[in-house]
Amino acid sequence: MSVAGPALFLLASVAALLGLCSGGSDAPRGVAVGFVFDPRASCDPPCEHAGICIRNNTCFCLKGYEGETCRYANCYPKCKNGGQCLRPGKCRCPPGFGGRYCHKVTCDGGCWNGGECIAVNGVAKCICSSSWTGSKCQDAICPQGCRNGGLCVAPGICSCPEGWLGGACHTAVCSQPCLNGGKCISPNKCRCRPPFSGAHCEERQKLH
Ligand SMILES: *[C@@H]1O[C@H](CO)[C@@H](O)[C@H](O)[C@H]1NC(C)=O
Repeated sequence: MSVAGPALFLLASVAALLGLCSGGSDAPRGVAVGFVFDPRASCDPPCEHAGICIRNNTCFCLKGYEGETCRYANCYPKCKNGGQCLRPGKCRCPPGFGGRYCHKVTCDGGCWNGGECIAVNGVAKCICSSSWTGSKCQDAICPQGCRNGGLCVAPGICSCPEGWLGGACHTAVCSQPCLNGGKCISPNKCRCRPPFSGAHCEERQKLH
């Protein structure tokens, strides 16, 4: 066998299992044979991440690294959702993803009111339950609308400003009723039917 050649070839402690029958050798098949490395070997560019230069321009990479110069860390399981393997078993996750393998979707600030954080085209988004909207599902939906400055404070519930009532804040309130068929059209304002007038339609206009 030629392993015995020039003294600069040494047996490395790392053993490789060779299943080959070497010509003329008595070595049994399938025996573990140390592989050779050249202590004077030079690797340019150099081996990274403590990889060993075993032959000219051939790096032997430590566990967790790969590539010609052992530059690339490998992560198992692989980083998901576009995560980058920083060092063995350590992924850097893009925004919106977390967990050891970037397998978890995370919505910044969470999703409120029963919303669910889901990845849509690689972007984490809150999917809101019906009746809620907004980036965090923080805004209630009032399908009827809230008019006259009313605020939707819960699904279907408007909080109305003073002087307005009703599910959509659509009913004006007149503290004194509008008389003679007059109609309250805005807070404390009556629209009178002719021939009536006055703040509460209490006056009958003289007809000429
Ligand atoms: C490795 O490279 C060096 C310098 O480039 C050279 O002198 C040497 O002979 C090479 N070794 C082998 C085994 O090819």
